Amino acid sequence: MRDVAIIGVSQTKFGELWDSSFRSLVAEAGIGAINDSNIGGDDIDAMYVGNMSSGLFVNQEHIASLISDHMGLNPIPCTRVEAACASGGLALRQGILAVASGYHDVVVSAGVEKMTDVVDATPAIATASDVEWEAQQGATFPSLYAMVAKRHMYEYGTTREQLAEFSVIAHHNASNNPKAQFPFEVSKDKVLNSTMVADPLTLFDCSPVSDGAAAVVLCPAEDAHKYSDTPIYVKASQQASGTIALHDRRDITTIDSTRIASRKAYKQAGVSTKDIDLAEAHDCFTINGLLAVEDLGFCEKGQGGKVIEDGQTRIDGDFPINPSGGLKARGHPLGATGIAQAAEVVWQLRGEAGKRQVEGAEIGLTHNIGGTGGTCAVHIFGREPNNN
Ligand code: COA
Repeated sequence: MRDVAIIGVSQTKFGELWDSSFRSLVAEAGIGAINDSNIGGDDIDAMYVGNMSSGLFVNQEHIASLISDHMGLNPIPCTRVEAACASGGLALRQGILAVASGYHDVVVSAGVEKMTDVVDATPAIATASDVEWEAQQGATFPSLYAMVAKRHMYEYGTTREQLAEFSVIAHHNASNNPKAQFPFEVSKDKVLNSTMVADPLTLFDCSPVSDGAAAVVLCPAEDAHKYSDTPIYVKASQQASGTIALHDRRDITTIDSTRIASRKAYKQAGVSTKDIDLAEAHDCFTINGLLAVEDLGFCEKGQGGKVIEDGQTRIDGDFPINPSGGLKARGHPLGATGIAQAAEVVWQLRGEAGKRQVEGAEIGLTHNIGGTGGTCAVHIFGREPNNN
């Protein structure tokens, strides 16, 4: 297997983007990443696109062909990858595997979702649950994660205030991210007193419904300096599956797919949690951000609330989580999220993240979940080439 590098990244603004179409979003991100990497369109051998549900959100299937055509990339192979909210993370992994195996040299991995064209996105998102046992019985993602939050509070004494603090930090970070959907600060009182969505989760505990796209360009590590002065190296790419239905879990307050994928990733990269300078974690709801802190191994199980409250996940804390603002405040266009996480880590490791820069960042991690944990992708990236 060959080592792989990221040589270009791009993300569109996330938000309710009435002036952009589905195809123009992914083209904007793809062309941005190509320009960032000093390659030409002719250099690209293949493209993977993460997307959860173009059929339900914009009434368009066969999007891989649509995208390669619209971007002028025909006849390269272009493949759609779907794993609910982890679609982007898996599109990234497919690109990495294609380059690592030697099958392709220069690959674009992108992600896109245009969610705001439908009147109510909730039923479409709920198709990422076990529909027969969950969505058809009335469960939505806010309600499923609300049950997780309630159980975590019961088991470990986690408080509403601790969850609210996660949102306060996310919005603070996003206030320094011009591409974020919600680039503004919120107070803890505002989070606690905003509209109840699914008890105990209020509006500001939830990631929003978003439009957006992101893209990265990958190539063999040995060629990276041909295309970029600041390549970022892939140190690990891992994926794990878990039960899709929440009621089938041994413990609904632990996401086993996160634990398994992350432990395999640490082993592959030859690092421990102490070596990770920042993580872009999957916080579709504040409780999921808290679970990520625990299940990625940054603290003991049950201590997530306390370490958030103590400020350890802030940009200047012991283990900064989501300097971009995360899903909560950067936004969560489902299929784009896993790629946007990688783009943020690349900007951080290049030292290009402006006011949200984690000082001296050398190693970063991305954590992308599908559904309530049925799929998890974990990637680790570094500034330095791997020592093989
Ligand atoms: N956080 C903060 N503000 C939000 C928000 C969020 N998550 N979602 C919407 N808003 C704001 C809007 O900007 C708008 O503000 P304005 O009045 O100042 O313009 C206001 O709240 C109302 O927006 P609206 O679109 O009507 O909200 P909604 O009630 O239809 O949707 C949620 C709110 C929480 C239900 C929706 O964002 C949601 O379903 N989130 C979860 C998405 C999800 O499940 N993703 C997959 C995870 S696995």
